[in-house]
Amino acid sequence: MPPQRPLLKIAGSQRSIQITDDASRTLIDPVTGVAFHSASGALAETRHVYLNNSGVAATLASGNSACVLEIGLGTGMGMLLSVDDAVRGGAKLEYHALELDWLPVDVLRQLDLQAGLMTPELGDRYLAWREKCGSTPDPGSYRWQYTQDISVSIHHHDARQFRFEGSVAFDAIYFDPFAPSVNHDLWTPEFLGRMHGLLRSGGHLVTYCVNRRVKDALQCCGFEIKCLPGPVGGKREVMRATRRN
Ligand SMILES: C[S@@+](CC[C@H](N)C(=O)[O-])C[C@H]1O[C@@H](n2cnc3c(N)ncnc32)[C@H](O)[C@@H]1O
Repeated sequence: MPPQRPLLKIAGSQRSIQITDDASRTLIDPVTGVAFHSASGALAETRHVYLNNSGVAATLASGNSACVLEIGLGTGMGMLLSVDDAVRGGAKLEYHALELDWLPVDVLRQLDLQAGLMTPELGDRYLAWREKCGSTPDPGSYRWQYTQDISVSIHHHDARQFRFEGSVAFDAIYFDPFAPSVNHDLWTPEFLGRMHGLLRSGGHLVTYCVNRRVKDALQCCGFEIKCLPGPVGGKREVMRATRRN
């Protein structure tokens, strides 16, 4: 029997909420099937593919600092889990995320993101801050200072055009646009080459996509690639690409 994955309608949106197999919630367009996470477990996928495979979870757990870039903030699940880990580890975290279509707070509330957090009130604090930014914020960079040591900068811009001012050197990039068939321009050698330039030497870009063209594009930009086992019940393999120079 295929798993039951209930869909909940969102008033005024073509997207629905999908209850994934680990009971966490994601967003899906039921017509196109384009989803923000794997139906086999949004939370499990995010933790495994992004926080664990990048080494960020281990870094924060040992109290060391991390500087992370996410391409595609989406629901904010990857960001909130990273902040949660930094709180737990007493670690410094500087988190940057690029997002073209910043979801409004009434949609975020229905995703019950707090459910996956050790410090659920940080989810409430994020929602309160997101609400203050307005329902349709102008393009720009918005900073949420959660504590003195933990900051989140959301760059509400098209990633194809956005450039950081000055030099940056991220420890990790959570690379989570939609699939190449939908977000083609974010998977080109040109765009992935820009990601390579944003990492420190030894930094990792992690992603769910392991298709041949993406592997070739990553290698062509100078990444050393490694396919790793996917999350339980999800994709067989996922990707870690490391900057070596
Ligand atoms: C798979 S979802 C990301 C899921 C997210 N990491 C999470 O934890 O919910 C892909 C995201 O990429 C964003 N996106 C697509 N094209 C973009 C672009 N050109 N610039 C910035 N964000 C983009 C989409 O709006 C969407 O929120």
